Amino acid sequence: MKESTKQRALFATKFAAIASTVGSAVGLGNIWRFPYEAGTHGGGAFLICYLAFVILIGVPVLCAEYCLGRATRSNIFGAYRAAISGRLLHKLGYLGIISSLLILSFYAVVAGWTLEYCIESLMGKLDFSNPEEGHQQYLTLTTGWRPVIWTVIFMLCNAFILLKGVTKGIERVSNIFMPVLFVLLLLFCINSLTLPGAKEGIDFLFVPDFSKISSKVLLGALGQAFFSLSLGLGCMITYASYFSDSTKLAGTALLTALLDSAVAILAGIIIFPAVFSFGVSPQAGPTLVFEVLPNIFSQLTAGGVWSTLFFLLLFIASITSTVSVSEISVTYLCEERKLTRTKAVLISTVISLAGGVLCAMSFGPLRDFTICDRNIFDIFDYVTSNIFLPIGGMLCSLVVGWALDRKTLKTQFTNNGSIRFRFLPILVFFLKWICPAAIFLVFLDSIGII
Ligand code: TRP
Repeated sequence: MKESTKQRALFATKFAAIASTVGSAVGLGNIWRFPYEAGTHGGGAFLICYLAFVILIGVPVLCAEYCLGRATRSNIFGAYRAAISGRLLHKLGYLGIISSLLILSFYAVVAGWTLEYCIESLMGKLDFSNPEEGHQQYLTLTTGWRPVIWTVIFMLCNAFILLKGVTKGIERVSNIFMPVLFVLLLLFCINSLTLPGAKEGIDFLFVPDFSKISSKVLLGALGQAFFSLSLGLGCMITYASYFSDSTKLAGTALLTALLDSAVAILAGIIIFPAVFSFGVSPQAGPTLVFEVLPNIFSQLTAGGVWSTLFFLLLFIASITSTVSVSEISVTYLCEERKLTRTKAVLISTVISLAGGVLCAMSFGPLRDFTICDRNIFDIFDYVTSNIFLPIGGMLCSLVVGWALDRKTLKTQFTNNGSIRFRFLPILVFFLKWICPAAIFLVFLDSIGII
């Protein structure tokens, strides 16, 4: 494939490749979005659907994105163009670009909240002596014009990391902080399990009430699986284009899915016991985690220190994810439009900032601007996660399953014959039939056709 001859930076070590894809996958999607989606969609029933989608659709589509990325060593446009030579279909890459800008817009708002919480607790401005304060603090920090400022600050940090380049910037950040975040989550889990009333929260998360499975739950779980695994945008295509030839694609996909789901479940174990213990409604929506966490910190010794550390790590987890989302438009602008990296970063930052400001204001000045009961923030989130990402994933699955030649598939999954991969026929069957059909059925179900 001609694109593969281009000189591109590669991840220096296998650990760096894994840490960076896990860094992209693990982020607010796991720690902020999973608990609130599970909370609004019935807990255990949602968890089961989510895990089923991760295994049946997420892992195969992740393999497909990795395969396409490394085989073509290109951005999404180049990747699709190489795979389906010359056909107009590669224009669908624009869907990835648009979705990435929309995701950046709402993601930056929540990431801005994490940064604000971190700085405020560092300066001792959050009051952890009184659990009731949690909600009040939440209200002052997330409404009005303040979130706009923090969204801008966050986007500037994101642009700074992007400008430092792929291997250096992303690798360094992911390598150090991902393991620390994992350990901190484990500690918080243990703490949550000892809260009075913890059992109710654990039951809510782990005991499924199958009667709650509805088309909304299925679509929500599908969207969450895609969002959390960073699928459907071409994000993992772009990252895999930096993989070295010895990175094992299927193994890396499995490990990414495993760690990513583990973090989501850990977040659930932290949040739900506290939700019930402190009497917060699990249905609180996007604000759930930010209302619950201050309560948790308030009953720890040195709550402010824990809070600063936790939000710092959450901020870092967010930035390793936004960097990967931004890479899509940045590599597109550099490689397809031949712009310099600096210009590309500037353009992508300005566009997503415009969206970000709108999303930030939808908790304050634009609160009353809603369509179908959803504010701008919710619309950006819903449309991208539940519709655009699954369509993008379906496309990638079909292209890799049907259009990529068998030889390329085999070369990619066996690292040019140096390792065995017995599951290739099963994987191809899933990519050709099962994944596209399952996504299509969930769509039909959610618009009420079946
Ligand atoms: N998966 C990330 C998270 O959980 C967010 C993210 C990064 C993402 N890259 C993506 C979501 C690409 C969708 C597509 O926070």
